[in-house]
Amino acid sequence: MHVGILYSRIRKDEKLLLNELRERGHEVEKIDVRKERFGLESTTANVGDLDLVVDRCLSTSRSLYATKFLDSYGVPVVNSPETGDVCADKAKNSLALAEANIPTPATEVAFTKEAALEAIESFGYPCVLKPVVGSWGRLMAKIDTRDAAEAILEHKETLGHYEHKVFYVQEFVDKPGRDIRALAVDGEPIAAMTRSSDHWLTNAAKGGETASFELDDRALELVERASDAVGGGMLGVDLMEVGVEPEADGGEGSGEYTVHEVNHTVEFKALDSATDVDVPAKVVDWLEAKAAAAADGEEVAP
Ligand SMILES: Nc1ncnc2c1ncn2[C@@H]1O[C@H](COP(=O)(O)OP(=O)(O)O)[C@@H](O)[C@H]1O
Ligand SMILES: [Mg+2]
Repeated sequence: MHVGILYSRIRKDEKLLLNELRERGHEVEKIDVRKERFGLESTTANVGDLDLVVDRCLSTSRSLYATKFLDSYGVPVVNSPETGDVCADKAKNSLALAEANIPTPATEVAFTKEAALEAIESFGYPCVLKPVVGSWGRLMAKIDTRDAAEAILEHKETLGHYEHKVFYVQEFVDKPGRDIRALAVDGEPIAAMTRSSDHWLTNAAKGGETASFELDDRALELVERASDAVGGGMLGVDLMEVGVEPEADGGEGSGEYTVHEVNHTVEFKALDSATDVDVPAKVVDWLEAKAAAAADGEEVAP
């Protein structure tokens, strides 16, 4: 197949992907979105005879707009702009999960610091305040007291750009020192890992330690439903175990989970090292299937 990669920086994840594609003899068109222009009918990017384009943009805005334009030209693109739109925004993400009856932490959105303080007080302490757009655990706050709440809200209202004027307040989930990341393609899991840390933020990007994790039946079901809820694609589903003793360890599921987010531009290098699964190979298997489906005139979205 002839596959395009939308990117602005080639990280280890993209290298793994490019190597796998080339090893299988696929032709790759690297599209640096910083250098291209996107018109209403066409783009300077060479997308004419691509069977499929994979979005690997780091920046959320570039990812959302570039996929939207390609989709408009009729170029098959994964993930779809619709999936990106839901996943890029934590409020939309939470709503999609709740609408699909998937267990997700109780969340409230407020637009002023007064209303946000009421939300925080109603959840009680500790609770969590997140930016609606962002990843890698950045700008997340665990709020332990009213004094801290007032200070953070004032800082956000005074110093934050407009996305920070949407206050996303969430109950604090007392997880067992770890959360779970599953990588799935159209709901089918490729691999999963735990991310453990003494810090409440367990992101691999924040230094969380990763270990392979076996999804139990309940987790498998939730991953599939969470994927459907956001429109499918190649996704990172984040889950926390609930009702587990903090010292719980090992590679087994607890039986109950809450899904806190679904990521649409998912990194997989940590998962590739933490598990025995050949993650890039599985990803490319899926891309080949998607390209074949697109060639048969099928929608790329499931
Ligand atoms: N409500 C919560 N209660 C406890 N821990 C949380 C909660 N939400 C997120 N976390 C922790 O913070 C990390 C980052 O949160 P997440 O919502 O996934 O944001 P990001 O997009 O930055 O990854 C999670 O991996 C998890 O360990
Ligand atoms: Mg996350």
